[in-house]
Amino acid sequence: MDAEQQGRKFYITTPIYYPSAKLHVGHTYCTTLADVAARYHRLCGDDVFFLTGSDEHGLKIQQKAEEQGITPLEYVTPIVDGFKNLWKKLNISNDDFIRTTEERHRLVVQDVFQKLYDKGDIYKSEYEGWYCVPDETYWPENKLTEEHVCPDCKRELIRVKEESYFFRLSKYADRWLEFIEAHPDFIQPESRRNEMVSFVKSGLEDLSVSRAKFDWGIPVPFDPSHVIYVWIDALSNYLVPIGYGTDDDKFAHYWPADCHLVGKEILRFHTIIWPMILMSLGLPLPKKVYGHGWLVVEGEKMSKSLGNVVDPIPLIDEFGADALRYFLTTDIMLGQDGNFSRRRLMQKINSDLANDLGNLLHRTLTMVEKYRSGQVPAPDGDVSAEIAHALADNVRLAEETRQAYVAAMDEMVMNTAFREVWTYVRALNKFIDVTAPWTLAKEGATAELDAVLYRLMSGLREVAVLVEPVIPTAARTMWNELGLDGELSLARLDTPFPAGVTVRKGAPLFPRYEIEEETASAEPVQPAGTDAAASEAAAVPVVPEMTIDEFQRADLRVAEVIACEKVKKADKLLHLTVSLGTETRSVVSGIAAYYRPEELLGKHVIMVTNLKPVKLRGVLSQGMILAAVHDDRLELPFVPGLPAGSQVR
Ligand code: ME8
Repeated sequence: MDAEQQGRKFYITTPIYYPSAKLHVGHTYCTTLADVAARYHRLCGDDVFFLTGSDEHGLKIQQKAEEQGITPLEYVTPIVDGFKNLWKKLNISNDDFIRTTEERHRLVVQDVFQKLYDKGDIYKSEYEGWYCVPDETYWPENKLTEEHVCPDCKRELIRVKEESYFFRLSKYADRWLEFIEAHPDFIQPESRRNEMVSFVKSGLEDLSVSRAKFDWGIPVPFDPSHVIYVWIDALSNYLVPIGYGTDDDKFAHYWPADCHLVGKEILRFHTIIWPMILMSLGLPLPKKVYGHGWLVVEGEKMSKSLGNVVDPIPLIDEFGADALRYFLTTDIMLGQDGNFSRRRLMQKINSDLANDLGNLLHRTLTMVEKYRSGQVPAPDGDVSAEIAHALADNVRLAEETRQAYVAAMDEMVMNTAFREVWTYVRALNKFIDVTAPWTLAKEGATAELDAVLYRLMSGLREVAVLVEPVIPTAARTMWNELGLDGELSLARLDTPFPAGVTVRKGAPLFPRYEIEEETASAEPVQPAGTDAAASEAAAVPVVPEMTIDEFQRADLRVAEVIACEKVKKADKLLHLTVSLGTETRSVVSGIAAYYRPEELLGKHVIMVTNLKPVKLRGVLSQGMILAAVHDDRLELPFVPGLPAGSQVR
């Protein structure tokens, strides 16, 4: 995108998915984010390698195949073909797709296992303990409660007793803690780092890394009666396509990975077990492991066993890949859980894609056609002070947008990056309203009209480049309609718009969808009657009426409690530190009699954010937490399914 950013390498991976069922829209979240990051880095001129794939071994897959009377490979192959088809439909630009059943993968996994053994980090013993089959996870007794259910997925664990090879995880605990101390950015987001550190500090048992009771896996090279534990098998995939053991130069170029993007429940494997294996192999550790949240439906993780999965294929067929990509990337805060809602998806398409962006393109091209016969004019000659001012403002905003976008994308805070771009898109729409090209045309203000149209075309060109990572198809359509040739991904933002080209206006960029209004909220309030609910309503004290505009002056947001403690020498007060997604606030609330500080940690509450800050007992309070009260009772309304920063209306 810009000269000074060129020349880096960027190796990004998603998890490799289990082909135990079709992928749902929750799975597409991670792959979409990784794709947005990969495309952004390609735009910067970086040498990108983007890897995804399928994790095909393990007891779970063997059992499913047996149920159907087919071989495991026969069982997984059509499902894996489905993954590939999904990624194609979603415009995922992965550079490779690794299947753990491939020969190239087997060779690397066996080599890794042999090296760990030669190093003295693998020994034979007996495993007796608990195992989660769906998650393929061993659980030591000290991490379990009496019920013996999986701490992650809450499903029943099975008791396993068998001969097994073990990896000396415990040997690396201190080195790992030192590494984390020296590399505080390694685990993202930060809250997850603390979780991982406590996990390691609470004591690590050596990890069972082979199974002898089933055979759907990669054999241990020096003892084929065992297969390698599926997580050792799976994690090693990250080394395969970049030349580990086959192409030393390529491997030295791409390794260590710049980012492993994974869901929060598999962060432990990626930030504890994987680094310890790499330490044993003597390889550098990845630069970053980013744990994203889940797509939830009414607070529950989308999962097949809960029966709440949303199939991405019909969604893409109905709304298009760009729309789904845009929704997933911009509506959910990376690191936090986000709600999937079809209604919200349609709202985002209507407001951001069709209205803000589509309209801007359409209006601009229509004016170039109408006033300049479709040919983009070159800006030439002096313009009035008013127009000069509007132009300068817009150029400055474009520059600021670009800088903020790059800073946010480099940190993978994609929703912030695109929020900046959409602020600029809205500013371009406003620029049209302020400069009123139709008036300039009527008045024959040729130089002003040319300069305004040229600025709009330049702004739109910049927007097309910046949005390419998230809506690649629409970005290319924009590029073409703007009259531009050449490959968009090779575009440089510092090249001026080529005046003189002819625009190629097409159909609207995005359609608008009819969203059925919820009738209940639109119904007028009934006058108080005689039934119980009505008399309760009548008991609400009368406060003066206000207009909707007055109400909207209050900025209500979802806030996540990230720290909470009692205020010293004040029985009633709690001091909360909350995240609003993009910033952290300190709030004092009179709820100490109703909630213990630890009960509120991680809770999503509702907060008035634009109250004038005050100090209460010397502690800064930058907002107010909403509470429902009745007599001597008080309850906070919690909104677990919505990310911090969400608006409350
Ligand atoms: O864990 N929302 O595979 P997997 C967001 N094979 N992400 C979700 C999700 C949801 N509702 N449901 C699942 C595995 N995911 C291993 C990985 S990597 C060496 C081996 C995400 O198919 C989940 O968080 O069970 C995980 O990151 C990914 O999908 C793959 O899950």
